[in-house]
Amino acid sequence: MLFKIAVYLSLDFINMTTLIINIKELLQIENLPKKMVSGAAMKILPTIKNAFLWIENGVIKDFGKMENLPLIIVENNIDATGKIVLPTWCDSHAHIVYAGNREQEFIDRIHGLSYEEIANKGGGILNSAIKLQQTSEEDLYQQSAKRLEEVMKLGTGAVEIKSGYGLTKDAELKMLRVIKKLNENYPITIKSTFLAAHALPTEFKNNKSGYLDMVIDEILPIVATENLAEYIDVFCETGYFSVADTDRILEAGAKYGLIPKIHVNQFNAIGGVQVGVKHKALSVDHLELMRDEDIEALKNTSTMPVALPSCSYFLSIPYTPARKIIDAGLPLALATDYNPGSTPSGNMNFVISTACIKMKMTPEEAINAATINGAYAMGLEETHGSICKGKKANFIITKEISSYGFMPYSFGNQHIDKVFIEGKEIY
Ligand code: NIG
Ligand code: FE
Repeated sequence: MLFKIAVYLSLDFINMTTLIINIKELLQIENLPKKMVSGAAMKILPTIKNAFLWIENGVIKDFGKMENLPLIIVENNIDATGKIVLPTWCDSHAHIVYAGNREQEFIDRIHGLSYEEIANKGGGILNSAIKLQQTSEEDLYQQSAKRLEEVMKLGTGAVEIKSGYGLTKDAELKMLRVIKKLNENYPITIKSTFLAAHALPTEFKNNKSGYLDMVIDEILPIVATENLAEYIDVFCETGYFSVADTDRILEAGAKYGLIPKIHVNQFNAIGGVQVGVKHKALSVDHLELMRDEDIEALKNTSTMPVALPSCSYFLSIPYTPARKIIDAGLPLALATDYNPGSTPSGNMNFVISTACIKMKMTPEEAINAATINGAYAMGLEETHGSICKGKKANFIITKEISSYGFMPYSFGNQHIDKVFIEGKEIY
C-alpha cells in the first residue's frame, strides 16, 4: 500500500507535518493562484480525485494524486477514504460581536410586525446598541468568543467582523477592541470593519449630521491611530444613511486608508452600489434588490458583490438575484451576516445550501462563492480560499459522503468530520 511509505514519529507534534491520504475528492485546488472567479468560470470547481494533502507548519506544502505521493516523514497521518476535503469557508460579512439577543423581536415578527416596524419603534439595531453599551468589554468578549468557536467548528477559517452595535464613541471602540482581542487569541483570521454608521442613535434622532460629525471627527481618528479596523462600512438604506451620507463617510475613511465594504440594496435600491463603486469598495453586500443599472455599475470594477441568503431566509425578504449577477459575467461571494437581528446564524453550510436551493446557484458556484470569492471580499485571496501550495492549511474534512453536491443537497445536516485551521485541528 502506498501510505506504508509514511513513517509515523510522534503524535505530540501534530502541527508539524500532517498528511491526509486517500481523499475521495480534493476541492478547489489551485496551481496558479487567482484573485477570484467570475461569471461562467464560477461553474468550474477544480478538483483531484483520490488525492493527498501534505501540511507542514500550518501551511499547505503539497497536494496531488495518491499515485504521486512522495516519500515523506509525517507525524500525523489521516486516512480520508470516502471523504471530501475542501478549503474552510471564508465568511466576508458578519457581526459576531454583539450582546444578548433579539428573540422578542423574532416573536413580534411571527405575530406580524415587520423588521422595519420594529426598528421604527426603537427596536432593531438600537435595541442591540443599548444592550451592548451596558455590557462590559470582558462579558462582550466572552459572548462573542463562544460564537466564534461555534463558527470555527462549522468550518469557517476566516471571518470579517463589524462594529456598529455601539453607536457611541466608547461602545464602538469597545466592540473594535473585542474584535482585535479575538483575532489575537484565536487561530481563525479576522478582518475588522468600522460600522458606526449602522443606525442613528436616539440622542441624535433629529441631528444626523451631528452624529456623522462625531463619527468622523471623534471616533474615526482613534480607530485609525489604534489600528482597530481595515475596512469602513455604512448601512446605505432609506431611513438609515443616504447616498450622500455614505459618500461623506467613505471619503472620511479614505483619508485614513480605510477601504469600503458597505451594506447596500437590502430593502431599497437608492444608489448604494454606485457610491460603493465610486469609492472602489472591496465589496457591496446584501443586494436583495438589484436594478439593471446596479448590475451595469459593477461591470469592469474590482468590487465584489456579496449575497447573504440566511438574512433573506430569516426576514422573508427577496434573495439576491445570483443568476442575474453571475450570468452578467460578474463574480459573487456568499457570507452569513451573522447578527442578532436579521441573521442569528453563522453557519456557512446553511448559506451554501440556501444559495443552491433558493438562488439557483450550482454547488460549484456556491463553493467558489464561499471560498475564493469570500477570501477576495476580505483581502485574503493570497492566503485563504483555496488549496494552493503556500496558502494557510485551512481545510474541512467531510464525513463519508457521496459527492460534494451532497453538502448543499442534504441541507441542515452535519457533514463535517474535522476542521483544520493553520494546520491544527479545531475541537
Ligand atoms: O446586515 N442591515 C443592516 N445590518 C444588519 C442587521 C442589523 C440588525 O438588525 O441588527 C444586516 O442585516
Ligand atoms: Fe450585515
